[in-house]
Amino acid sequence: MVSHSNPPITGTILIADDQPANRELLTELLSTQGFKVIPAADGSEALEQLGRVPTDLVVLDVMMPRMTGFEVCKEIKANPDTYLIPVILVTGLSDKENRIEGIRVGADDFLTRPVDRTELLARVTSLLKLKYRTDELERAESVLFTLARSIEGKDPYTHGHCERLAEYSAALAQHVGLAEDQITALRRAGVVHDVGKIAIPDAIILKPTSLSPDEWKLMQEHPVIGERICAPLKSFRSVLPIIRHHHEKLDGSGYPDRLKGEDIPMAARVLQIVDVYDALTTVRPYKPAFSITDALQTMKVEVGKGWWDPGIFEQFERFIRSGTADFLARGAAAGANDK
Ligand SMILES: [Fe+2]
Repeated sequence: MVSHSNPPITGTILIADDQPANRELLTELLSTQGFKVIPAADGSEALEQLGRVPTDLVVLDVMMPRMTGFEVCKEIKANPDTYLIPVILVTGLSDKENRIEGIRVGADDFLTRPVDRTELLARVTSLLKLKYRTDELERAESVLFTLARSIEGKDPYTHGHCERLAEYSAALAQHVGLAEDQITALRRAGVVHDVGKIAIPDAIILKPTSLSPDEWKLMQEHPVIGERICAPLKSFRSVLPIIRHHHEKLDGSGYPDRLKGEDIPMAARVLQIVDVYDALTTVRPYKPAFSITDALQTMKVEVGKGWWDPGIFEQFERFIRSGTADFLARGAAAGANDK
């Protein structure tokens, strides 16, 4: 936990510069302030170090052999494991074009050489404060993810379901052209969409036979409960409609709000296609795993009944048949009573 009342801020800072003198100067300036510094002689080495050492901030020289600072920054920001690490680019001149390119590749801040000690420390401290606030948010998210996975873990038939859903609905969302924030939301929703089942008794969730009307009524509350659990997290704002509406059907026969057609958020329609497919192609207590062909055929019938989005299904079917969906059918089954 980061103290808000007692600076100084500390952290691990990666410095990449091919000029030893520059590297040593920055290392000296930062390590005397209590920061742990990891030096790298070029961009490739910086990326290697990033994969090995937990890093809080990266300072990159722009002009380096093998990989420029721009290229390294671009890779850092494209990688889900590192994109939240702030990056400072150090340029030789106050060069407008370099700065514009830096902004394009996602740099968080800039320093001009010769580096001014006070400016360096001010920028580093400010970015680290922001980083630690983001880390706290990440921890809250990870508690939610752990909770969601522990619910999944109670059911031996759902092993890996959340991960498959997260991975594949994000891929499908990309395929159908959803915006980046919706793709991120789907990745999260894939994991937490059934977190509301925490409030449903195990006897209902694990029941191998059909649910009674009362049990079914209770089961249908899980999307609303899940939405309530995730609501306090601001970063989950785009995830909430997916959680709430992942059991709606196009003809209005789903739950909890009996939404119809395009009133069901597009991202929720994407998630449910993958959810249904994963349920069909994996083992359940009352049925074996369907083959890909049988699963798609069953879904086609359900599209005909007015349950699932025909346009998304069509793209999904093409996607599956392209042979890139093998991992979806891998592993165990989806939730027995999650219909
Ligand atoms: Fe569900």
